[in-house]
Amino acid sequence: MSDNVILVGFMGAGKSSVGRLLARRLGRCFVETDDMITAHEGRSIPEIFAERGEAHFRALEEETVRLLGLKSGDVIATGGGLPCRDGRPAQLRAMGTVVWLQGEFDAVYERAQRAGARPMLAGRKREEIEALYRAREPYYRQADLTVDTTGINPDQVVAKLLLLLRDRRASILSPLGRGQGEGA
Ligand code: S3P
Repeated sequence: MSDNVILVGFMGAGKSSVGRLLARRLGRCFVETDDMITAHEGRSIPEIFAERGEAHFRALEEETVRLLGLKSGDVIATGGGLPCRDGRPAQLRAMGTVVWLQGEFDAVYERAQRAGARPMLAGRKREEIEALYRAREPYYRQADLTVDTTGINPDQVVAKLLLLLRDRRASILSPLGRGQGEGA
C-alpha cells in the first residue's frame, strides 16, 4: 500500500475542500486529479470536454490513475467520474485508503450547482443527474471507508475522517483486527 488517502465521491461532495484541510492536518501534500489533467493539457476541464469530448477526458483520467501509482503519502482528490469504471476502485485501493465522501443527493446537487464549471452537469435535468449519481454509487461504495457528510461542514468531515483513519490504522496493525467505523 502506498499510504495515500484517496477521496472519491460525486461532484459537490466536498472532495477539494475536505482534501485540502485533511492534507494540512496530516502534514501531507494535496493533489487533485483534475489539476493533474489540466496542467498536462494546458487547458481547463470545460475546454477539454468542449474540444475533445468526454471520451478523451476519460482517457486522460486513465493515464492519471497510472501516474497516481507513483505517489506515496499524499491526500488525493479524484474527479467524480474517475472511480466509476469496472476494476478502478480496486486499482485505487491498491494505492492507499479510499474514502467515499457520501452525502444525500439533494445536498450534493445543490453544492455541485453552485461551485465551478462542470460539463457533466451542463444541459442535464436534475433527474438525469440523480440517475448518474445512482449509477455511480456502486463504485463509490467500494471505498475502504465512508464518511456521511450530511449536514456537517468540511472541518467536521475532517474530524470524523481522522478518527476513522486512526481506527483503520489500529485495526490493520492489531493482530486481532477490528471494525472500520462507519465504513465497510
Ligand atoms: C466529473 C467531475 C469533475 C471533473 C469532470 C468530470 C464527473 O470533478 O473531473 O468535470 O464526471 O463527475 P469534480 O467531482 O471535482 O467536480
